[in-house]
Amino acid sequence: MAASLTAGAASAAPPQTAETLLELETDLLFEGIRRRYGYDFGAYSRESLQRRLQARMKAEGVLTLSALQEAVLHDSACMHRLLRAISVPATALFRDPGLFASIREDVIPLLRTWPWLRIWHAGCASGEEPYSMAILLAEEGLLARTSIYATDVNDELLTRAASGRLTASKLAASRQAHHDAGGARPLDEHLIVDGTGARLRPELLERITWAQHDLVSDTGFNDFHLIICANVLIYFTPPFRERIHRLLYESLVPFGFLGLGERELIAAHPPTPRYRPVPQANRLYKKVA
Ligand SMILES: C[S@@+](CC[C@H](N)C(=O)[O-])C[C@H]1O[C@@H](n2cnc3c(N)ncnc32)[C@H](O)[C@@H]1O
Repeated sequence: MAASLTAGAASAAPPQTAETLLELETDLLFEGIRRRYGYDFGAYSRESLQRRLQARMKAEGVLTLSALQEAVLHDSACMHRLLRAISVPATALFRDPGLFASIREDVIPLLRTWPWLRIWHAGCASGEEPYSMAILLAEEGLLARTSIYATDVNDELLTRAASGRLTASKLAASRQAHHDAGGARPLDEHLIVDGTGARLRPELLERITWAQHDLVSDTGFNDFHLIICANVLIYFTPPFRERIHRLLYESLVPFGFLGLGERELIAAHPPTPRYRPVPQANRLYKKVA
């Protein structure tokens, strides 16, 4: 009886190609991660994830996603390694000099009209983006009345970010980018340079609060005069981009500003009428409704 039931179930199952099996294993892995750890990997576009998952399988010495799932569910350190691999940590000081030049020229004059400022860097990676903001605000005389909040889903990156360290190999490019962003003083005035690299000056670093925050599953935590969410939304599926856009919108004060990354035009999203592009600026939007 048991044998005929098994045979019946097998013949009723849809045929599995290697591709559909991969889809199934990916779904199960993500469901397991969501239920065990609360991270929603289904929010990320699959193409960008598949390569990273394959690399993780190789690094963990497993042959299938099901085996990776088992390892992740039973070993939180393995989950942490996967999270690190999923979060693309590419960043740099003044990575997008055009964005910072526009903030300096077009947004700072308006930010000056507020007595106190809160700025949020959502998806700050290892911190160079909020460091750049602290440098810019110091040069513009606004740092003392600004609180900078820098968040990322990857807490390991945040630990590195909170140290204020910069690697020596990137310093020359950073000096140029700071200059291109309209840097008013030499970059090195904001750093303590030593034999192994440099450190952001403590008086700048102490204006930044670091916290783990997941743009997919966490709610807003304050209202901000300026939010920078650059090179983060590109990794998400369209419905999750919308959701994150809503969170960012709701986290801005009226007439607050949103800054995005190079490939992240707001025109692609429904809340367009709620924002007006800052004239002449690079991917900076003012909340108007
Ligand atoms: C390419 S980096 C961008 C860093 C910085 N904004 C920049 O442009 O230089 C993308 C960052 O988004 C973070 N990230 C990915 N998913 C996230 C999520 N669900 N919530 C918050 N941050 C996330 C990653 O950990 C990574 O540090």
